[in-house]
Amino acid sequence: MNFNPFKEKCENLDSLFMDWEKMYPRPYDKCDADPYTRVRCILANGAEFEAVRFSHAFHRSCSDNDVRRFLAVTRRQEQQQQKRIACLKPLNETVLETTIGYEQLAVDLTAIFARRHQGYLKQAFDFALLEDFDHLYRYANLLELDTGIHAETLVGDYTEITPGRPTVSEHRYPADDVRRFCDNSVATPLEKLDAAIITAAEQQTMNYYMNQAQFYTNDLGRQLYSEIGMIEEQHVTHYGSLLDPRMTFAENLLMHEYTECYLYYSLYSDETDPHVKKIWEQHLVCEIAHLHKAAELFENIEKRDRSEVIKDGTFPEIIMFRSQKDYIRDVLKETVTLTSDREDYTEINSVPDDSDFFYYQKQVNNTIGDVASHKVIAAIQEKLGRDYRSEIAPNPVNVLCDREKDNTTLGRVKEQIYA
Ligand SMILES: [Fe+2]
Ligand SMILES: [Fe+2]
Ligand SMILES: [Fe+2]
Ligand SMILES: [Fe+2]
Repeated sequence: MNFNPFKEKCENLDSLFMDWEKMYPRPYDKCDADPYTRVRCILANGAEFEAVRFSHAFHRSCSDNDVRRFLAVTRRQEQQQQKRIACLKPLNETVLETTIGYEQLAVDLTAIFARRHQGYLKQAFDFALLEDFDHLYRYANLLELDTGIHAETLVGDYTEITPGRPTVSEHRYPADDVRRFCDNSVATPLEKLDAAIITAAEQQTMNYYMNQAQFYTNDLGRQLYSEIGMIEEQHVTHYGSLLDPRMTFAENLLMHEYTECYLYYSLYSDETDPHVKKIWEQHLVCEIAHLHKAAELFENIEKRDRSEVIKDGTFPEIIMFRSQKDYIRDVLKETVTLTSDREDYTEINSVPDDSDFFYYQKQVNNTIGDVASHKVIAAIQEKLGRDYRSEIAPNPVNVLCDREKDNTTLGRVKEQIYA
């Protein structure tokens, strides 16, 4: 530990472009790979996607061509990294199987982050956690329905598959997803890193569903991707609104490169596949070069020291993927009936009848029989007499234990009897 990327040797940026062979790696083995290797690949891909997206936004808002040329160089390298990581997915892993990995990442990463924070940020993690947890269950049932494959072969023993806050209950009026932003002058380095990393991960999930929904091979699957994609839009609004919007572009670039360094250092330290580990190490070297150059750029543009943004630079505790089953069970039991009212979270039973939540629910969920996340469960119950689950014990919420009937009222309709 005690790794500080500012104290590491900085390679020449122009020596870090990849040739085609390097950019197209040997994929991990779908059957042998640790599920968390798949999850780490998805996470790194999301960070690179955000690096590219942010760099384009900076470039289009900047009138200095020296800065724009620098951004073009680093952005090309972010693109190469993204291409390389994306093709770590093997040829025989389908879109839906990868989707299971996306939701497993959302579940376990969010739980890891929730456990290491307090207060408003922890509440934000716990809140969205139960929603992605339910998405995992819905997609796992689509997988069983369409292919007979059990999602436990993909997630391993790490993650349970059982209902969370029912997806039908997650559809909220858009204004109820906007949170209070955190103040970077008092936020800890870990708070800033985790908020940025989860935003990138959720954004990538949102984009993936935006691009994949139409290619799914049947109507129900297309509808399920479309419905869950709408929740990922809520999640990106939710997490993105936590980031301090007062950062300048140069400051934000510095934070982006620092976050990438932290992420690759974590992935490298945690990785069990030696081939993939080597890739994380090489990308870390590249990100250290980006960081040093971004710090120079920041100091030139803003005439202040980078330590005003990143005080010391020594990494806080890293991200290590470990099973979060017990924690998730506790959050599910205690907070499944929460919804959101503007910037805060509230019990569904306390939401006024004339609120935006019920108004919006009535518009989009007017006919429950049309809601894809419900239809997929009803379809498998019809076919097999029960849903698909992978549990270590019955669901901790009594009304979610019934495997023959999908619950479409919990967290959505008042005066249910819970627990
Ligand atoms: Fe990168
Ligand atoms: Fe999700
Ligand atoms: Fe999500
Ligand atoms: Fe970078």
